[in-house]
Amino acid sequence: MKTFKIDFEPLGKVASADKEDSIMQASINAGVDISSICGGKGKCGRCKIILKEGAATPITDAEKNMLSTDEIEKGFRLACQTKALSDLVVDIPPESLILSQRLQTEGEELEVGVEPIIQKVFLSLEPPTLSDPRPDLTRVIDGIYEQKRIKPRIDFILSKKISSILREGGWIVTTTLRENEIIGTEPGSSDAKFGMAFDIGSTKLAAYLVDLETGNMLDAIGLANPQVAYGDDIVSRIGYAMEEEKKREELRRAIMNGINGMIKNLCRRNGIGKKDLSDITIVGNTAMHHLLLGLPVRQLGLAPYIPVFKESQDIKARELGIDMVEGGYVHLLPLIGGYIGSDHVAMILATRIWEEEEEKVRIGIDIGTNTEIAFAKEGKIMSLSCASGPAFEGWGVKQGVKAMSGAIDKVSIEGHDVVCSTIDDKPAIGICGSGILDAIAKLYTSGAINDKGRLQEENSRVRRSDGGLEFVLVDKEKTGIDDDVVVCQSDISSILLAKSAIRAGISIGLEKMGVNEDEIGEVIIAGAFGSYIDPESAVTIGMLPDLDLKLFKQVGNAAGVGAKLALISRSERKLANTIADDVRYVETCIHPKFARILARSMFLPKPKIG
Ligand code: FES
Repeated sequence: MKTFKIDFEPLGKVASADKEDSIMQASINAGVDISSICGGKGKCGRCKIILKEGAATPITDAEKNMLSTDEIEKGFRLACQTKALSDLVVDIPPESLILSQRLQTEGEELEVGVEPIIQKVFLSLEPPTLSDPRPDLTRVIDGIYEQKRIKPRIDFILSKKISSILREGGWIVTTTLRENEIIGTEPGSSDAKFGMAFDIGSTKLAAYLVDLETGNMLDAIGLANPQVAYGDDIVSRIGYAMEEEKKREELRRAIMNGINGMIKNLCRRNGIGKKDLSDITIVGNTAMHHLLLGLPVRQLGLAPYIPVFKESQDIKARELGIDMVEGGYVHLLPLIGGYIGSDHVAMILATRIWEEEEEKVRIGIDIGTNTEIAFAKEGKIMSLSCASGPAFEGWGVKQGVKAMSGAIDKVSIEGHDVVCSTIDDKPAIGICGSGILDAIAKLYTSGAINDKGRLQEENSRVRRSDGGLEFVLVDKEKTGIDDDVVVCQSDISSILLAKSAIRAGISIGLEKMGVNEDEIGEVIIAGAFGSYIDPESAVTIGMLPDLDLKLFKQVGNAAGVGAKLALISRSERKLANTIADDVRYVETCIHPKFARILARSMFLPKPKIG
């Protein structure tokens, strides 16, 4: 089949594409991260590129819908809708490029005793003789028994190598023991024992390298989830995976490659060999968990959203294609149910949300496309999830972008002055989740919008455009794009819808727990997005209850911390299982007053006097 060369500017990356490949597909192959929310369905307009040289397929109806006449004249196309008919040179505008996304990995740590599931056993063995003709493996097992009083089995693939390892090491070897199984053997002496914990979010992956001897974290990295190329929101990805098994495998490989890339990176920069990586724990939401394991997701995409299983799993890493010590296992923490996955279990584990003794309720909230909320009182925990949607990730927000360089992340308005801060202090290219939340709160307190979220035309920065009213946040001359950055009426509606889902979830949870808002003792805000929001702005728009700001605690990536706890401690692993079994799971949308509570939560609350 004829292939064409596609030159991606300004990156200087080149891909080849056949006539079946969209430019988006070619960009994925070349490792160029073009933004996409809809998964290449031509519905989000995030994948704009400019065709500079060459011939491509004719403009589609989807492109005519998403691009302005002016943009079409300038050569703009949607990467997901365009295919090459010759070699091409395309330009990727900054707002279409996922550049150095802000990926929070840190979380508030919790100290627990170190009791890893892995141990290393050093063996100095006698070589076989005619008077001692024990098989090689028996010799190893006897050596381990002498020290540990256990007779372990051995990983089958490893058993094929043990004879040569013993001879190579001159009968001095170190074995890696996982409970009752030998999962690694190496010549000589080594006490290096490392593990990695992963939090696989829909948008971001976080990986932590931990010394299993001390329990100390040595390094951490974040990565944009490579599946984002198939759609930002998990529903798009589930839809893609449902189309055919090959596509499900494509998504599985994308996440697996992401994990392996992080393993490689962490090992390389810390001088660690793959053989020393002896344990891995993974947490993630139910969909990510299923996509990683290659489980069917059709039943997850439809009510009543049933997972294949929810129990914790220990799976040979090689069965998943994950790189670690020869016979190593990946431990996946348990799920709770519906969309509430092991990341929520890990968040509960890390925050010890049930431990406060006072009679107040503690709330733990992780805001995302799906927001999970835990309510704890007197040792009992109830959890629910609400479909807050991807608005905080940019979907449905005209100039919404991810939290990357140049994204407006904070807004303040004093009279007619609007001050926006951007990530890395770069000229504004759009507005990210914390920025839009801040902007709407400040538009409200400054009177630029009313309590129904309507923009007020008399405000000097509000203007009428083709799409309706919009508020100019940053004038074109000061932005990094050839345009103003604005907040338009439909952006406000998207955010109010998202915040109402979260607030409705909180209201329903409190009602189910039989408590009022004034009985809330603490609101723990977990997750990357939650780390960057201003709780005061979240209260102003009514996303969070109107409490003393001291009651809000932002803890960072608690799910990642929980994954690390399960990595260094078998007791924490057990506790995670107990949490998953004991948490009461509530389905919000079957609450009889759900629609009414949701509608009521859409309004902006009356500002506090004084
Ligand atoms: S329009 Fe191309 S990815 Fe959404």
